[in-house]
Amino acid sequence: MLAGKRILLIVGGGIAAFKSLELIRRLREQGAAVTPVLTRAAEEFVTPLSASALAAEKVYRDLFDLTDEAEMGHIELSRAADLLVVAPATADLMAKMANGHADDLASTLLMATDTPVMIAPAMNVRMWEHPATRRNAARLAADGVALVGPAEGDMACGEYGPGRMAEVPEIVAAAAAALASGPLTGRKVVVTSGPTHEPIDPVRYIANRSSGAQGTAIARALAALGAEVVFVTGPADVPPPAGVTVKRVETAREMLAAVEAALPADAAVFAAAVADWHVAGATGSKIKKKPGAAAPALELVENPDILATVAGMTRGRPPLVVGFAAETDDVTANARAKRTRKGCDWILANDVSPGTGIMGGDENAVTLITEAGAESWPRLSKTEVAARLAHRIAEALAG
Ligand code: C5P
Repeated sequence: MLAGKRILLIVGGGIAAFKSLELIRRLREQGAAVTPVLTRAAEEFVTPLSASALAAEKVYRDLFDLTDEAEMGHIELSRAADLLVVAPATADLMAKMANGHADDLASTLLMATDTPVMIAPAMNVRMWEHPATRRNAARLAADGVALVGPAEGDMACGEYGPGRMAEVPEIVAAAAAALASGPLTGRKVVVTSGPTHEPIDPVRYIANRSSGAQGTAIARALAALGAEVVFVTGPADVPPPAGVTVKRVETAREMLAAVEAALPADAAVFAAAVADWHVAGATGSKIKKKPGAAAPALELVENPDILATVAGMTRGRPPLVVGFAAETDDVTANARAKRTRKGCDWILANDVSPGTGIMGGDENAVTLITEAGAESWPRLSKTEVAARLAHRIAEALAG
């Protein structure tokens, strides 16, 4: 996916810099040419020789290297790239970028460029949460800089929390997504995925079974065709795809609010397995199990139907609304009825009878129901189902 692309990789000075060597290898494996740029601090963590050996290219380090200015000035260096990736992006580098500093080669390249920029922040959790970094991250996002990560987890400094650099495969996928262009370039699609959790009390919840695999594959396939994807996900088993905007929610009501906030969009795909009910008066404290006492009775209240709500919008309805129908009997007939009842344009119906192995598995057997009729697809991997659907959405939006 990165074949023929040139990436200028700016390595900042943080402990995560050691991962930049792996990043160079993986980007090259995908066909990209990588030109490394090390900040002075980065050289404390990785040597220019290793970066150069893995990139099989010259490493750039100093703003005032006159030979390089004669060969290739910093303006050309940054403009020759299809994408600038800053990994790790330290708090200091982010501050420089947000404020337009240009006092070393890395910051000057970032100022001089007119190509897209993606950063993978990596820093101590307190630094990431500091109001100055929050401001800088927001400013950079508003300037059109794509952020990948940071992830949450154990940190080299012994603390735990957000601030770890995103893993290398995630950065590679985000770079591929940032460079993807295709029939959905300029289009925005909202995708829901995963289950919702409806609390009974702070430790218990009711939910539907859903791995989030199909919704994640759909979001990835849409991004690969160039779409801007807002991925609204409940607590799923599979990690969200890279290169999409992730909105994490717990409950159906939060999912509806996140979807509404993400509109307007050109299309919306509702792949989430939303719980049909939530528990009335869910308590803030744990319900105690008392020996001999009757089990508590749960009063269930119907959740909003997100698909039906969006499909029924009189203003701002996405031109293409796609729902799913997980059925065990009379799949096509039930799905047709569901399409009419929900008011959506398409329904992807799948047979989730226990014998099919579809629930939680890698494959899906889908029937696409549109106004024109029903079309059965062969049994395909969830990735292939997603790719087909993404192409069909692109065709439909093209007109
Ligand atoms: O009614 P049923 O749950 O079978 O409908 C499935 C479709 O409706 C899926 O696309 C699902 O994401 C969507 N849905 C929803 N909000 C709900 C229930 C289902 O968006 N509360």
